Amino acid sequence: MIRSVIVGTGSALPARRVSNAELAETVDTTDEWIVERTGIRFRHIAAPDETTATLAADACRAALGAAGLAAQDIDLIVLATATPDQTFPSSATKVQASLGINDCVAFDVAAVCSGFLYALQVADSMIRAGSARRALVIGSETFSRILDWEDRTTCVLFGDGAGAVVLEGQDNGDAGAEGRGILSTRLHADGRHNELLYVDGGPSTTGTVGKVRMKGREVFRHAVVNLAGVMTETLAACSLSAEDVDWVVPHQANARILDATARKLGLSPDKVVVTVDQHANTSAASVPLALDTAVKDGRIKRGDLIVLEAMGGGFTWGAAVVRF
Ligand code: UT7
Repeated sequence: MIRSVIVGTGSALPARRVSNAELAETVDTTDEWIVERTGIRFRHIAAPDETTATLAADACRAALGAAGLAAQDIDLIVLATATPDQTFPSSATKVQASLGINDCVAFDVAAVCSGFLYALQVADSMIRAGSARRALVIGSETFSRILDWEDRTTCVLFGDGAGAVVLEGQDNGDAGAEGRGILSTRLHADGRHNELLYVDGGPSTTGTVGKVRMKGREVFRHAVVNLAGVMTETLAACSLSAEDVDWVVPHQANARILDATARKLGLSPDKVVVTVDQHANTSAASVPLALDTAVKDGRIKRGDLIVLEAMGGGFTWGAAVVRF
């Protein structure tokens, strides 16, 4: 039986790191409010020459290096983003060109903060169906470009960055839950909640890029319920439960959401990877960025059972259970 195994992770952050105190010089906010309500202390903000595609390509180079593979070994690139370099062509094809791969499948996926989970399931399905062998799955965002810097209820929450994994199809026989690879994934969407988290522009409506708008308190309420639900569902799909989990790698929107979700599942907060303090909410990039951070610092080790989860605009949400 073919399984998609994560054989390398990588990430990239813009050079400029901005503290809450620096933001408070231009926005009507305080370090105390941001830390208490969100857990965020820093975010990285892209310079004009740092784009979704350049950050993604840097993350891919790091992931390929960690996997010991060359760009030419890749036959599929799936890039999750809500902030592409251009309306078209896809940023995935820009990454492909930057890596020097002249012929492979490459496309973007739009599911906002859950984008990486969507991209992961698409790539996993293609690998298991035999249409790809090795894939780069990327989450990359430059949300700073679509923030309204005069709206303190949103602009303090987001940051820029990219994370990537190399997925490889491996024949794991019938190794069960002990065998490496993606064990199960579950995705959801409920388009009735568009107005709670959206961008007020687009090519087909205003002809502009638009800015992020969010009713944060309502998103928060849905997030905890949906995330706890989809994690339980995804674990049950491979006959596992919260006790089996070594690490949860969540979407990094708010430290209070991470705590509340862990509590709902009866999981110790020590098993939750938290990077929101350093990166803020990087939308589709946040899960692979947090994953790479915890792999690099030695927390996540080969053989660990990890659960990736995210929820965002749409609403969309999803989870993946992976034997790392
Ligand atoms: O990634 C996609 C998923 N997104 C999320 O999961 C985000 C979910 N939501 C959240 O993380 C939280 O709801 C927020 C962090 C966005 C807001 O926290 P909250 O505890 O729900 O605050 P609130 O929106 O209820 O606002 C409380 C107060 C308000 O003042 P009043 O009306 O009570 O006087 C806001 O005007 O805090 C005020 N406020 C601020 N004050 C200082 C809002 N933003 C700021 C700010 N600095 N940046």
